[in-house]
Amino acid sequence: MLNILSIEDLVFFVQKYCDIIIVALFCIGVTYLITKAWKRAAKEREEIPGRLGVPLIGETLSFLSAANSTKGCYDFVRLRRSWHGKWFKTRLFGKIHVYVPSTEGARTVFANDFVQFNKGYVKSMADCVGEKSLLCVSVENHKRIRRLLSDPFSLNSLSSFVEKFDKMLCGRLQKLEASGKSFKVLDFSMKMTFDSMCNMLMSVTEDLLLQQIEQDCTAVSDAMLSFPFMIPGTRYYKGIKARRRLMQRFREIIERRRRGEDSKEDFLQSMLRRDSYPSTEKLDDSEIIDNLLTLIIAGQTTTAAAMMWSVKFLDNNREVLDKFREEQLSITRKKAEGASLTLEDLNDMAYGKKVIKETLRMSNVLLWFPRVALEDTKIEGHEIKKGWHVNVDATCIHYDPDLYKDPLIFNPSRFDEMQKPYSYIPFGSGPRTCLGMNMAKVTMLVFLHRLTSGYTWTIDDSDTCLEKKAHIPRLRSGCPITLKSLRDGI
Ligand code: HEM
Repeated sequence: MLNILSIEDLVFFVQKYCDIIIVALFCIGVTYLITKAWKRAAKEREEIPGRLGVPLIGETLSFLSAANSTKGCYDFVRLRRSWHGKWFKTRLFGKIHVYVPSTEGARTVFANDFVQFNKGYVKSMADCVGEKSLLCVSVENHKRIRRLLSDPFSLNSLSSFVEKFDKMLCGRLQKLEASGKSFKVLDFSMKMTFDSMCNMLMSVTEDLLLQQIEQDCTAVSDAMLSFPFMIPGTRYYKGIKARRRLMQRFREIIERRRRGEDSKEDFLQSMLRRDSYPSTEKLDDSEIIDNLLTLIIAGQTTTAAAMMWSVKFLDNNREVLDKFREEQLSITRKKAEGASLTLEDLNDMAYGKKVIKETLRMSNVLLWFPRVALEDTKIEGHEIKKGWHVNVDATCIHYDPDLYKDPLIFNPSRFDEMQKPYSYIPFGSGPRTCLGMNMAKVTMLVFLHRLTSGYTWTIDDSDTCLEKKAHIPRLRSGCPITLKSLRDGI
């Protein structure tokens, strides 16, 4: 080149075309950087970041250690999200899990439930709640069983439940106030939800029988996620034994009803009334008893935990409590002394309903909803392989500052505005939406109505640590309170 062009020629060339050369170099540089960034982004879009660790074990030990701490198992998720970003994958108990953090991802999973995704089959769970439980059956049976179970849980059918629950609640709160003793809201709400559900489902009201059924249901619930080996002393063994006793009891109740020795108006009776219907329009006995057990187990701990959190959140937010109490007192003033609450009264609790919504948003009783991918698929551009577990992360969505301003602040009035689709999912969504959501909401409303319109309380232990080894977040203290009648202060 130098033979043809002298140095002077070169300098002259560069000087003459200096602008063009700079622009050309600039363009090449920018194109190079954009291509590199695009390739990296494309790779990231496909590959979800995360640490899979060694096969089988992966990050199981870290997960168990979080579950065994007073921060709760969601701390495991929170930490990984801070390391890897919103989308991350991990390996737990030998399976790859992806945590789905967005409304768009939730929509994809819920809209394709039973088609591209399904609940994973867990042997211990099927052994405990039964093969005919809504939690275990195939898609065709699920549709039929759910349709037949749904009616007694519709809002209209819950009016007698509201009145019965209200009576039971008033009596128990009065006794507790009169005793002047501190009691744990969690224990109280566990007993209340259990007794009222057994009453609504099969009219069981005797104390001893209730106690025996509750003990057995707790043993079954504890065994649902255990190793399925029938070794005496293990949780699984105790759970299976408890299930056998429960099935025997439920069958006896059904037989007494069929012999006409016992006639009650309840959920069970509404199922037995279908005895002469074609098979597509009724449940057989094993479907009835498996789902009685499922309803009790799915309904008790969830509702009880939410009731406990509602007391804690109201106590921490006095302005909200005052506004809520004012609405409840305005309803009490309109009613005759000693009259029970009705569904219509609950409809007048516009602010109360928002308090319940906000409690469920913040407490995240079910932290995430697990599914398994039935085929290779994509969620929001992220590749998901067949067999991977995808967990719709309700907690992440409920605490997303782009969806909820100041998400850590308890502010029921945020629900004055409409929510974006799939941004509020405490009861899930799609074909598996919670069957008992109306029942849970009315239970919480009646409870908070009686508590705030009849009493003030003090929390006797302000410890904020969570219970260890619990898959539902609950205060370790159980939230002990002492009641004082509101009349004493007037
Ligand atoms: C605050 C209380 C409650 C919460 C937060 C709650 C939450 C949920 C959620 C998120 C699901 C769907 C899980 C998934 O998609 O994997 C679900 C399902 C279910 N819930 Fe609830 N629940 C509550 C109370 C109740 C009650 C009171 C009952 C019954 C008496 C009940 C019965 C069920 C049943 C049977 C299912 C399974 C539905 C199906 O697979 O088709 N729940 N619940």
